[in-house]
Amino acid sequence: MVIGLSLTATWLKGRSRAGDITANPVSFDVGLSQMAERAGLDFVFKPDTLSVPPAAQARGMAQLDPTIALTAVALQTERIGLVTTVSTSFNPPFVTARQLQSLHWVSNGRAGWNIVTSIEGAENFGQQGMPDPATRYRKAVEFTETVRRLWRSHPAPGSADGAELQPVGHAGEFFQVRGPLNIPEHPAGEIPLFQAGASDEGRGFAASVADAIFAATPDMAAARELRADLRRRAVDASRAPDAVRVLPGLYFFIARTREEAWALHRRAHEHLSRETRLDKVRAILGADLSAMRDDETVVPAMLPDGDQPVRSRTHADLLRRYIAQNQPSLRVLLARPEVVGSAHWVSVGTVDDVLADIIRWFDAEAIDGFIALPGGSTESMRLFFDELMPKLATRKLFRAAYDSTTLRGHLGIV
Ligand SMILES: Cc1cc2nc3c(=O)[nH]c(=O)nc-3n(C[C@H](O)[C@H](O)[C@H](O)COP(=O)(O)O)c2cc1C
Repeated sequence: MVIGLSLTATWLKGRSRAGDITANPVSFDVGLSQMAERAGLDFVFKPDTLSVPPAAQARGMAQLDPTIALTAVALQTERIGLVTTVSTSFNPPFVTARQLQSLHWVSNGRAGWNIVTSIEGAENFGQQGMPDPATRYRKAVEFTETVRRLWRSHPAPGSADGAELQPVGHAGEFFQVRGPLNIPEHPAGEIPLFQAGASDEGRGFAASVADAIFAATPDMAAARELRADLRRRAVDASRAPDAVRVLPGLYFFIARTREEAWALHRRAHEHLSRETRLDKVRAILGADLSAMRDDETVVPAMLPDGDQPVRSRTHADLLRRYIAQNQPSLRVLLARPEVVGSAHWVSVGTVDDVLADIIRWFDAEAIDGFIALPGGSTESMRLFFDELMPKLATRKLFRAAYDSTTLRGHLGIV
């Protein structure tokens, strides 16, 4: 399995960060990354947003630039991969190519790039609103291709004397870039590409370039469908069927007993009022369910048309699908991971319960691994690293120790 750790303080949701772990947000990232490295994880991962969500603004949380934070982490770790997030909707490709290649050199071949098209932030870049999804993905394709050509603009290490820098000379719909890049490519080879966004366009894009997809799959059927579809699409794009590793976020709550684990889960979401949850449904689907009673049934007819513009097609489709398949009461709907979180796979219980969930999904060919989103408490995370990870290694589902030094090597990209 491929296993990464998200460097997000998921267990602090709704609480102040003050007094927890450290006041310096980069020490927090370094501490968690060192813990993940001791467990032999493939990578740590930092998501990103280019705007401030209102709730976080109130709490004054520091959202460091992920590439800069991971550069600090690079200097205090040796083996673990470092996957940063850079949006293709707002940055110039030359700057991104250079920053990512810099991280690759500083970390000695451990950089990875999570390619996102973003759902917000336009107003910080002189735009009135987000471009439509098709435009964003066309831009992502051109952006990514330009970055890769910049990376390859230097002769490969060991090439014949006299090999020249390759100008890029790109002139496309969105970007004009002469090149070459002012940094050669690190001898570890091309930076692995991750992608997040699983609409039809997102899947097509991932199948054409990505080595892994960071997926939101609240249930096993969603993960199986996504993985099977990506395997088909990869073959259609003349790639190997397993070229795109499917890595859902796994939001786990582990404790010594099931009762304690469920208490952690309850506590993590109790700060979300009914109103906040209804707002979330409105933001995801455009549906106003506020006049309903908690015991009333939600049916697809109550939802706006499926082709209405939404912030994230991935998240809208997941919630719509859940309602169509389950016709839940409003109370049940408002407790769903698609509503209280980001539609990630939730596993709650003892070490063995969560281990069993992981093995079940893996055996069902729903996943190639996962990105851990520790929830509930620091103790839950400790149990994951100290007890669950060694059990995966004992079962030969995960490495007992690193056998390579680069992220490409960890992921087995040839
Ligand atoms: C699991 C997941 C993680 C994402 N992480 C980020 C992120 O860190 N930063 C960001 O700007 N957008 C992020 N996105 C948004 C996507 O890049 C994309 O803009 C959005 O999902 C809309 O694309 P879609 O129509 O393919 O769903 C994420 C999306 C998913 C599904």
